[in-house]
Amino acid sequence: MSVINPDKSIPRHIGIIMDGNGRWAKQQGLSRIKGHRQGAETTRSIIDACQDIGIEHLTLYAFSAENWNRPETEVNALMELLEFFIEKELKTLSKKNVRLRAIGRIDELPNRTRKALKSAIEKTKNNDSWNLTLALNYSSRDEVIDAVKAFSTAAVKGTRKIENLDWERFSKYLYTKDIPDPDLIIRTSGETRLSNFLLMQSAYSEFYFTQTHWPDFTKTHLEEAVASYQRRERRFGLTGEQIEKTPAST
Ligand code: FPP
Repeated sequence: MSVINPDKSIPRHIGIIMDGNGRWAKQQGLSRIKGHRQGAETTRSIIDACQDIGIEHLTLYAFSAENWNRPETEVNALMELLEFFIEKELKTLSKKNVRLRAIGRIDELPNRTRKALKSAIEKTKNNDSWNLTLALNYSSRDEVIDAVKAFSTAAVKGTRKIENLDWERFSKYLYTKDIPDPDLIIRTSGETRLSNFLLMQSAYSEFYFTQTHWPDFTKTHLEEAVASYQRRERRFGLTGEQIEKTPAST
């Protein structure tokens, strides 16, 4: 039986830092690449679980801008795994009316990975039942730099006014411009940091850290994270008393 409270709201958007593939593999006496393969299996089952639970948006940190510094064989294996994943999942995503998006410096990905990704994004762009976003070659700091560059260009051209800039307008220049901020961010495998993931968008997110390595993460673990989220009081800078008077705070 699920530990999710049916009387409380569930997160609309969950972001996941899928960590621990390497440590899981080491514990099993397997190569790191086998750990990533097993991680990809978990990714598939967690996408299904999010849909079952009713979460509208899932964003997965699949490859950070810093991950290029890993050994070349591991980087190549991760790119191949991603291509395989995207190509294999495309049918299911289309059947389930899922829209795929990507955030990050996508144009710097290897040709084959970029092509597979762009084609899947294009083919699913009119789907509107559910939303999957892959963070690839992603860095929050790069995202801010790219947004500042794009805004400055518009300001120089005269299509945007510097004096009118506020968060709402600036956020339209982020990679995440058409997805809501994450309500809950989960990181597996015991580390309690964000590692450059959605730093701007997580200003009011709840965080859930678990010791479980990503390849061992199941729907039951996801439900525990959602139940933990439901026990939090999100105040967005208000007082607890103000929140109690707002019915939507459940
Ligand atoms: C972190 O584990 C994981 C990654 C850097 C890659 C994430 C990739 C997957 C889950 C598989 C492929 C993804 C998709 C979307 C198909 P780690 O290698 O840092 O683990 P460690 O900290 O234990 O070494």
